[in-house]
Amino acid sequence: MARLQNYFTSSKGNSASQSQSITAEQPASEGISGVRHLAIIMDGNGRWATKRHLPRLAGHKAGVNALRRTLECAVDEHIEMLSVYAFSTENWGRPRTEVEGLMRLFWETIRSDIEKLHREGVRLRHLGRLKDLSPDIQKAVQDSVDLTCNNIRIGLNVCFNYGGRAELVDAVRQIIADGRDPESISEELISTAGEMRVSNFLLWQSAYSEYYATPTLWPDFGKEDLRAALDSYRRRQRRFGRLTTS
Ligand code: FPP
Repeated sequence: MARLQNYFTSSKGNSASQSQSITAEQPASEGISGVRHLAIIMDGNGRWATKRHLPRLAGHKAGVNALRRTLECAVDEHIEMLSVYAFSTENWGRPRTEVEGLMRLFWETIRSDIEKLHREGVRLRHLGRLKDLSPDIQKAVQDSVDLTCNNIRIGLNVCFNYGGRAELVDAVRQIIADGRDPESISEELISTAGEMRVSNFLLWQSAYSEYYATPTLWPDFGKEDLRAALDSYRRRQRRFGRLTTS
C-alpha cells in the first residue's frame, strides 16, 4: 500500500465546532490537484437545517447533494480517491428518528445513484462495520461494491457505521484470527489488515495529514470551496518529519 500522505480540510460552521474535514494522498503521477486521496468529514448538516427552521434530516438530504457536487469536482481534479464520513459508530447515540432517517437516506441514495456512479466509472467501497446495519443496507452496499469493483476513474469510500478506533480493533482481531507471528506484524500489515483509515476518522492514515478548515457548512459546500482547499494544499511545504522534502 502506498504511503499515505494525508490532507485534511475541515469546514467550521462557527469558530467552536468543526464542520468538515478532507484528507488526501499524493498521486503516483500528479493530477491537476496534486492530491491523491481526499477525505471529508461532512459536518454542519444539522446547523444548516436549524438555520432554515427545517428538521435535521433536511440538512442531511442537502448534504447528499453536496456530496454529489464534490464527487464531480473530485473527478475533474483527477483525485484518485474520495473518502466521506457519513455515519460514525458514535452516531447511534443520536435520536432514533435521526438515526433511522440517516439509514433510510443512505439506502435510498445508493439505490438511486448507483447506476449513474457505475456509468461514470466510480468504484464504490464501504468502510465500517457493515454487519451491524440492516440486511437491506448490507445487500445494497454489497451489490454496489460488486457492481463497481472494476471501475478505475475514482474510488469513493463511504464510511458508514465507521470508527477509526473500531477499525483498529477489527484489524487487530483479524491479525490474531490469522494466527500471525508477532514478529511479522508491521505498519504495512496493520495498514492493510483492516482497510485502516480523524473525530475518530482515518486514524491510521492521518499520521502526516494536512488539515484545512472552512466556515462553510457541508450542505453549502461546492466546487469553489473544494478548489480553495486544494489551492491551500498546493501552497504547503510537506516535510513528513524530515527537514526538507526529497
Ligand atoms: C454531520 O453533521 C453529518 C452526519 C452525521 C451525516 C452525514 C451524512 C450525509 C451527508 C448523508 C449520507 C448519505 C450518503 C449517501 C453517503 P451534523 O449532523 O453533526 O451537523 P451539526 O454539526 O450541524 O449538528
